[in-house]
Amino acid sequence: MGVVKILFVCLGNICRSPMAEGVFRNLVESKGIADKFVIDSAGTGAWHVGADPDDRAQSVLLANGMDISGLRARQITEKDFDAFDLIIAMDRSNYNNIVKLDPEAAEGKVHMMLGFAPHLNKEDVPDPYYGGDEGFEHVLYLVREASEVILASLDIKSD
Ligand code: 4NP
Repeated sequence: MGVVKILFVCLGNICRSPMAEGVFRNLVESKGIADKFVIDSAGTGAWHVGADPDDRAQSVLLANGMDISGLRARQITEKDFDAFDLIIAMDRSNYNNIVKLDPEAAEGKVHMMLGFAPHLNKEDVPDPYYGGDEGFEHVLYLVREASEVILASLDIKSD
């Protein structure tokens, strides 16, 4: 398999999807296989374009050894269907909005994040924006669980 291109998507691209991007990148770096991946994130909405991740998202990840301060929010576009192999939505609303952009191009390419983690018995990674720090801790737990399964499902070997 060549390079696998993965795009994580939420609503604002300042909380859940940059956290997923950071967690997945950290995971493949820890296994020495980061060169096998292009990893990015985007939001379905445009409100926060150009912004760095929410301070609470940055803090929770930094406390766990991951620095996402350099990430900047952007909005998903139709071009992303060509640029990425896997587009992974944090919740059902994100999923529906992604598919709506180009239903044909989205066919087989768009997945629910927690669809990779059926053991959690949860469909959505909940939006932590209006809550407290514990919501961000919970997002970290969920995206870590799903990221492990995503990576295992890809069967990437180091050289
Ligand atoms: P995210 O969280 O989709 O996980 O980045 C949100 C961030 C901002 C807003 C909503 C959700 N907002 O409405 O501004």
